[in-house]
Amino acid sequence: MTRTLAQRTQLLKPSPTLGITAKAAAMKADGKPVLSLSVGEPDFNTPSEICEAAIKAIESGRTKYTPSAGIPELREQIAGNYNQRFGQQVGPSQVVVSCGAKHSVFNALTVLVDPGDEVILIAPYWMTYKDQVLLAGGVPVVVHADADQGFVPTREQLEAAISPKTRAIIVNTPSNPTGATLPLETLETIAQLADRHGFWILSDEIYDRLVYQGEHASFAQLGSKIADQMIYINGCSKTYAMTGWRIGYLIVPKPVAQAVSNFQDQVTSNPTSFAQVGALAAFRMQEQEVEAMRQEFDTRRHHVLGLLGEIPDLQVPTPNGAFYVFPDFSAYFSKAIPDDLTLAEKLLDEALVALVPGSVFEGPGHLRLSYAVSMETLTQAVERIAEFLRRNAP
Ligand SMILES: Cc1ncc(COP(=O)(O)O)c(C=O)c1O
Repeated sequence: MTRTLAQRTQLLKPSPTLGITAKAAAMKADGKPVLSLSVGEPDFNTPSEICEAAIKAIESGRTKYTPSAGIPELREQIAGNYNQRFGQQVGPSQVVVSCGAKHSVFNALTVLVDPGDEVILIAPYWMTYKDQVLLAGGVPVVVHADADQGFVPTREQLEAAISPKTRAIIVNTPSNPTGATLPLETLETIAQLADRHGFWILSDEIYDRLVYQGEHASFAQLGSKIADQMIYINGCSKTYAMTGWRIGYLIVPKPVAQAVSNFQDQVTSNPTSFAQVGALAAFRMQEQEVEAMRQEFDTRRHHVLGLLGEIPDLQVPTPNGAFYVFPDFSAYFSKAIPDDLTLAEKLLDEALVALVPGSVFEGPGHLRLSYAVSMETLTQAVERIAEFLRRNAP
């Protein structure tokens, strides 16, 4: 008798970025001097005061279950920071802490999307969104906001994507993979459309502290106008170099918080107890350390843009946030290298540089470079890319 897996497993593909990172790591383990610009995490260590708080929590026995939605003091701190920053009045009962922002997005989609509901994605998008929409039984509807429009969707494009089945839109600013930031006017347009057509806005603002010019524009600034239709998502991974701690959160209307909390009760229960104490220390941290990391990323951003700018015919949109650059390599496509997938493969095999092909984000023609690596690695990696392109120019 054949034993089959559930249908839903057919929706699951291994994460391409993790796949490339794993291949690069295996090549490194084989002694190949691979330079990896494929990773989506800060290369800094988690600040010591956060680590110390978590160590102290373990030593003092905070190693037991906590309430599923998070320890009360953490939920209060998150609500307090949000209110102070955006002039809002959310309460701790609107905050649910989960095992990373990725988990928060999944929880939100699970409680909001019914089978057949449409969810609008703005491409290029973080590929997890699409897979999670599918896992929730939803139907992704993609709006293409390309480089020539600064990766910013227009009202017309958004309107064309809306149907009676539209249940939600996922917005990510600053963006992974493009590093683009959306202006407040675009957020206002999305909010108006969401209000008029009655759909949810999932706003993933995980890179909000890594903005290099001007202030981060957040849906939270629109205040009570959209508070009852917004799912605000954030976490510690990127801002505090805490990717392995797995703490993210959402801020939502109370009934949504209750539904997410009930769901989480049956799936993971609480996020790790002492990681929550570490997160509490992070959210109480002085600004200087976060600002020092942001400035370091900005220095690298300028450096990598300067280096890429010297490669002929490469189109390099200037990113204003996160730690990614998303150049268009299509001028280098040929019979031997017809697309970004082949180029990424060849760059890894022949130039020993790991980048992520844009197609996985529905941004074909581009490759994503992460500059969350040392200046030296950046310099060497871009030299190798330039040399490879010189040799393989069509
Ligand atoms: C846009 C975006 N949202 C969420 C996440 C996940 O963050 P976390 O580590 O908190 O799950 C990532 C990680 O790469 C991301 O790029």
